[in-house]
Amino acid sequence: MQSAAAGVAATGFAPRALASDASFDPRSWTSVRAQFALDPHVTNFATFLLAPHPRPVRDAIAQHARSLDRDSKRYLDRQEDMGAAEQRVRSAAARYLKVGADELALTDSTTMGLGLLYGGLRLDEDDEIVTTTHDFFSTHEALRLRALRTGAHVRKIRLYANARTASVDEIVSAVRRAITPKTRALAVTWVHSSTGVKLPIRAIADALPARVLLCVDGVHGFGAEATPPQELGCDFLVSGCHKWLFGPRGTGVIWGRADAWSAVTPTIPTFDGRAIRPWLEGVAPPPAGIPDLPRAVAMTPGGFHTFEHRWALAEAFEFRRRIGPTRAAARTHALAQRLKKGLAELNRVRLVTPQSTALSAGLVCFEVDGTSPFDVVDRLYARSRIVASVTPYSTPYVRLGPSILNTPSEVDHAVRAVASV
Ligand SMILES: Cc1ncc(COP(=O)(O)O)c(C=O)c1O
Repeated sequence: MQSAAAGVAATGFAPRALASDASFDPRSWTSVRAQFALDPHVTNFATFLLAPHPRPVRDAIAQHARSLDRDSKRYLDRQEDMGAAEQRVRSAAARYLKVGADELALTDSTTMGLGLLYGGLRLDEDDEIVTTTHDFFSTHEALRLRALRTGAHVRKIRLYANARTASVDEIVSAVRRAITPKTRALAVTWVHSSTGVKLPIRAIADALPARVLLCVDGVHGFGAEATPPQELGCDFLVSGCHKWLFGPRGTGVIWGRADAWSAVTPTIPTFDGRAIRPWLEGVAPPPAGIPDLPRAVAMTPGGFHTFEHRWALAEAFEFRRRIGPTRAAARTHALAQRLKKGLAELNRVRLVTPQSTALSAGLVCFEVDGTSPFDVVDRLYARSRIVASVTPYSTPYVRLGPSILNTPSEVDHAVRAVASV
């Protein structure tokens, strides 16, 4: 076995202190923003769509990529470093989310996580999954494909009639009415990218019988909200890390409660040593799974990945941990509230997202009288260099997503720009 020093010389890999740049002040929003390489000529309210990488993440990706480009065989051969790299990711994620590292599966996106979860849920013949009309394509399609493959029963319900005036009571009552003795899982989304409504997940969890698994697409809450999954009260939280967390593009997690994981069967073989080693030794795994292999690890798809991105996820969690999840959530809410207040005063604007911070997060959706959302987005950019987006749903709205990379004056600029659309 080569010495660590020889390995470093040969591969360029050197263990780093996480986010060690002394010039970064996590308490200063200006310093946080300075860690990103955003176009300085635009005001970007769509950073949540596909994350820009902060400096520590860019540096980590570049370092791993350099080593892989120089000698991928030997970089990967250094099993200790490779295992340690993935363990660093799990540990950083677990520390940030306040969960056990073995409760986390690593994925490439929310969509991959939802596909694995809904494709792998163990269901009896009569069991049904209840979902809602408000979810994104990824949830609906994962469930449709599951039903196609296995004949699983899927039912969609509506949780609120009008997003702007939705209430916790209306949402929880709709859930209560929908659950039947056959319901085995409820598939919902934490923050609706269609309307900006944030579901009261804790209240929904409290209203569910214990046999119903509460499965949540958390991507627009993950990094925008501070509530850790255990407090949220769900059984599974699925999220990409490449939206509000600003993690490496192509990364995600599935968190499952320790005793909920047994409800899922993996689909894609993991490359964890505990799974491969018995196979190499010709030992067949027991049908119930390899005893010392946590189900979350078994649910982490194997095959080679863009390892430079996966391994740099540790830096993203640590970067956000240093800023503080509570401070980041408070900043996101303050900007979104300021934006909604400003927009609400404009005559031609109809807000879709609720004003209450209990029922909204960072997404702000609205309509402008007499102008299509697509034209609004085009004009905001053409006239004011504001980057906005249109919700990807059959009823489209204009969507602005103020994040920790925005400032109050950028929000005011956006309000003025919408007024003159
Ligand atoms: C609610 C919701 N879930 C999932 C996704 C897809 O996320 P990912 O790219 O991580 O699969 C999106 C949008 O991109 C979304 O709005």
